Amino acid sequence: MGLSDDFPLTEEVVYLDSAATTLTPVSAGDAMKRFTEECGGNYGRGSHRLARDVTRRYENVREELSGFLGVEDHLVFTKNSTEALNACARGLPLDGAVVTTTLEHHSNLVPWMRHADELRLVEHRGGVLRPGDFEEVVDDDTALVTVTQVSNVYGSVQPVEDIGEIAHDHGALFLIDGAQSAGHLDVDVDEIGADLFAFSGHKGLLGPQGTGGLAMTEAVAAELEPLLLGGGGVHSVTPEGYGLEPAPQRFESGTPNLPGVIGLGASLDYLRDLGVKRARRISRRLGIEAGERLSGLDGVEVFRPENSTGVVSFSLDGWNPHDVASLLDRIGSVCVRSGHHCAIPALKGSAEEGTVRASFALYNDDDDLDTFLETVEKILSIT
Ligand SMILES: Cc1ncc(COP(=O)(O)O)c(C=O)c1O
Repeated sequence: MGLSDDFPLTEEVVYLDSAATTLTPVSAGDAMKRFTEECGGNYGRGSHRLARDVTRRYENVREELSGFLGVEDHLVFTKNSTEALNACARGLPLDGAVVTTTLEHHSNLVPWMRHADELRLVEHRGGVLRPGDFEEVVDDDTALVTVTQVSNVYGSVQPVEDIGEIAHDHGALFLIDGAQSAGHLDVDVDEIGADLFAFSGHKGLLGPQGTGGLAMTEAVAAELEPLLLGGGGVHSVTPEGYGLEPAPQRFESGTPNLPGVIGLGASLDYLRDLGVKRARRISRRLGIEAGERLSGLDGVEVFRPENSTGVVSFSLDGWNPHDVASLLDRIGSVCVRSGHHCAIPALKGSAEEGTVRASFALYNDDDDLDTFLETVEKILSIT
C-alpha cells in the first residue's frame, strides 16, 4: 500500500513496537514545524492576535478530537494516559471500593494501590475479562470500576459495555483506560457509557509523545479535584481562596503542550483520511497472521486471545525475551518490545519471565511480517 513516504522510518527498520508508541506521520511533524514558525503567544492568556490564534488552534483540536472519540461533555489534555489515570486516582472523591483487574497496565493499577481506600481485583482469564467475574466483585459499596479496553500485553479487546453496565447498576463510576484503543478501535466514549476515558495521543492516534487526554462527563467534572492548580485554571484569587474556571480549563493549569496538541491534530486528520476501520483491518490481519505463523514454529508459545488487535505476545523456549528482542533488531532490524510491558500481574501464571511483543500498525505490510518471522526462525536455529 506504500505509506513509507508518510512514515520514513519504515524504510530503515521493521517497526513492530506501536503498542509502546506509534510512528508519527510527516504531516504532523510539518504541522509542528509550522507552529514554531507561525505561532507565538500563550494559550488563553492574552488579547493580542498571536495568543488568540494559538488558543483557537488548540481549541479546534479539542473539538475535533472530542468528535472523533464521541466525547459529549469534556476533553482535557494531559501529557499521556498515565497522567490522566493518576488525575482520576488522586482527584475523584470516592466513597467506597475501587474495582480494577489483574490485566491492567501499571498506570491503571499502582495509582489505585496508593489512593483507593479499598481495592478489589478481578482476575483476567488468559488475557480476557469476563463480565460475570465483575458481578461477583462489584457491589453497592463500589465507588468506581476501571478496566483497560484493550490489553497492552495480549491485544485482547474487552467487553467494556457490559462491564460498564454492571458498574452503573451499582451506582459506581466507570473509567476506561483507552491507551490501546483510541485510534485502534472505533471508540465512542458516550455510546460505551464511560464516565471517564483516559487515552494517549502518541499511540493509536499517531500523535507526538507528550500528548494524551482525559474525557469526562459534566457530572464527573463537577466533582473531580484538579491534579494541578495555578495559572489558567482559576478565575479569581483573594487572600481567602480561589475560584476554579469551568471545565476543561480548571484541569489545565499551566502552559499546555501547544506544539504537541497541534501535531496531534494533524495526526488525527491523517488517521481520519485513511480511516480507523482500514487502519484496524491492516494491523489486525497482520496480528492474526503473525500469531498463526508463530504458533506453527517449534519452541514458540503464543499468547494471543482470539478477539485481539495487532498485538502478538510470544516467548521462545529457553530464551530470555530481552535477548530475543535484541537479536531481532541486530539480525533483522526488527524493533519489538520485550519484558513485562509494565503489566507484571497480567503475566502471572502465563509468562512470568515476560514476553516478546510484536505490535503492528497501519504502516506495516506483508514484507514486515515476513522479515519478522524469518528473523524469529533464524534465532530459533541458533539454539
Ligand atoms: C493499557 C495501557 N495503559 C496505560 C499506558 C500508559 O500510557 P502512557 O505511557 O502514554 O502514559 C499504556 C502504555 O503502554 C498502556 O498500554
